[in-house]
Amino acid sequence: MRRLLPLIGTPDSHPGGRSAMTCLYRCGNACFHEIPNTSDNEYVGDVIASALSRRSMMRAAAVVTVATAAGTAVIGTGAQQAQAATEAAATTAKSDKAARGLRFTAVAPNLTDAVVIPDGYAQNVVIRWGEPILRGAPAFDPDNQTAAAQAAQFGYNNDFLALLPLPGERGRQILVANHEYTDEVLMFKAYDAANPTREQAEIAWAAHGLSVVVVEEDKRSGKLTAVPRHHLNRRVTATTEFKVTGPAAGSDLLKTSADPTGKKVLGTLNNCAGGETPWGTTLHGEENFNQYFANSSRPTDARYGIGTGATERKWERFDKRFDVAQEPNEVHRFGYVVELDPYDPTSTPRKRTALGRFKHEGATVRLTDDGRPVLYTGDDERFDYFYKFVGSKKMKKGGSRSAREHNLTLLDEGTLYVAKLTGDSPAAEIDGTGKLPADGEFDGGGVWIPLATASAKGAVSHVEGMTAEEVYVFTRLAGDKVGATKMDRPEDIQPSPTTGKVYVALTNNTNRGVGSNAKADEANPRNANKHGHILELTEGRNRPESLTFAWSLFLVAGDPTDPATYFAGFPKEKVSPISCPDNVAFDPHGNLWISTDGNQLGSHDGLFGVATKGDRRGELKQFLTVPTGAETCGPLVQDRRVLVAVQHPGEISGATVEKPASIWPDGAGKIVRPAVVSVWRKDGCDIGV
Ligand code: FEO
Ligand code: CA
Ligand code: CA
Repeated sequence: MRRLLPLIGTPDSHPGGRSAMTCLYRCGNACFHEIPNTSDNEYVGDVIASALSRRSMMRAAAVVTVATAAGTAVIGTGAQQAQAATEAAATTAKSDKAARGLRFTAVAPNLTDAVVIPDGYAQNVVIRWGEPILRGAPAFDPDNQTAAAQAAQFGYNNDFLALLPLPGERGRQILVANHEYTDEVLMFKAYDAANPTREQAEIAWAAHGLSVVVVEEDKRSGKLTAVPRHHLNRRVTATTEFKVTGPAAGSDLLKTSADPTGKKVLGTLNNCAGGETPWGTTLHGEENFNQYFANSSRPTDARYGIGTGATERKWERFDKRFDVAQEPNEVHRFGYVVELDPYDPTSTPRKRTALGRFKHEGATVRLTDDGRPVLYTGDDERFDYFYKFVGSKKMKKGGSRSAREHNLTLLDEGTLYVAKLTGDSPAAEIDGTGKLPADGEFDGGGVWIPLATASAKGAVSHVEGMTAEEVYVFTRLAGDKVGATKMDRPEDIQPSPTTGKVYVALTNNTNRGVGSNAKADEANPRNANKHGHILELTEGRNRPESLTFAWSLFLVAGDPTDPATYFAGFPKEKVSPISCPDNVAFDPHGNLWISTDGNQLGSHDGLFGVATKGDRRGELKQFLTVPTGAETCGPLVQDRRVLVAVQHPGEISGATVEKPASIWPDGAGKIVRPAVVSVWRKDGCDIGV
């Protein structure tokens, strides 16, 4: 039995549940700033939705009973309760079979400075920050790092991961990774935040962006390792040339002194989550881009959280494009979804303006029956929105050059929508504690409100008072105008490949219901929501392109002994505790896997699997936990392998290179390094069967 350690090294008390260092470097202290969304558009109210799918009242009533019973038995700390609940889950798994794909002994909450995995599984580090991947790249030497070396090595703070097939090379796949941001104090010895050097800034530019690296499986050991110098290996950084495509390409709003065409941008920033497309490319959200831009005074920038003073990293000292006062439109060229063709290392990556500009967490695509792309994307900010794009062009099958070229235009034409949700219970029954309303479920209906349509003939705005260009560049303002629903930080969104239902992770929002902020509503039912929840959407007629949907809350996260939690009706004494759901992925069996960011239950962050259908629906089990200070990113679950990006290990306030808070992955005396970890079964069988 694992014993819980004292809470040393858990995130200090920052509002989003993260360490102060995470707040500083990743989000530019977003939680301490004013809420960017000051619009007074309505939120989920007491309007009765039209006839929508609902689960049975009997089941919901049973859940209330369990919750109450558990609630009376609460003793000890949240972490102790959490551990007890997980042990119960582990016992259950042995005696009474979990859903196929989730048959492993759940990992208990813990504070171990390691990746902790279930018994019977093995792991290895696939690739670390700084490992050489391009021809000519030097070995990693953190004391003598250069921008040129970093540009040929794996970047910092790996986040989204994709694994693509590599036909013709047995046992190999193409790994694509995002590098969301840099932690300068953990990268450079004696880092002086007030006086960064040009070399440090340029190293950070090279450590951002994307990596493409071929990986190879060793059949005997099960290990997955990088193949350095493969001809497909590639780095994209904060200075790589991008082509801007879609309706805002060439707009006056995107023209700068360095690029009078408004179609050519250097670099991508803060790539958080992403997606794979059915046509063999990868998508990467540009999330907290605001933090890299200094000295703004425009209201449109304020809506994106762009500051009025200097930035933390002070890049504006080394390149004027990061100074809004000197180069006002450069900031309009970030905040998009970017698309990369990992099969062509010479291709120019694209910024897709038809998908709107906001803090894109990620982007996931599925196809309509007639082959058009439908893309879901969340705007990760407290009280912001989630969106859908329905393309108008059909995907061409086959790998011919003309088909690939055609498919690289699919995300440039179509309509962008924003979500508006309505609860079906009276507003008075949503009291902000998470107590279920009288109908036994947080649920209701919703509509996708059109914002703009792009076509070969041009773009049309559907928002009164805004041109199409404005909708695409100031998309948050368009959402405000049409009354989109203010959500509790919409993160990753994934459609289930087996049921078609769509899952939206809402990480947390401790400002919900605080002061004059929007109060709890049926879709965001807890005030001061610190654990987050997961929304399940059923598109009308189960068609991706539908403009209406039914919704219900699939999970309301937290300690299962907390009556405010909900696990799709599964008995709460049999699930693992979970807090702050962020990235989500499906396994081949249709189970949803959830990674967490900022666990508020006294444990390190982790990766969880949960059944979404059948009589085990809602049974949630923790598969792994990550080291001190780290976040679990980029989960991928294949038949025989689970991949996670261990992001920002050691990111604890006050930690430095000289005084690390973690010694992962290489032990004492070695610099802490973000890295990708692969987990497989020692007996070589499929995961969780
Ligand atoms: Fe980069 Fe929304 O997490
Ligand atoms: Ca309801
Ligand atoms: Ca994330």
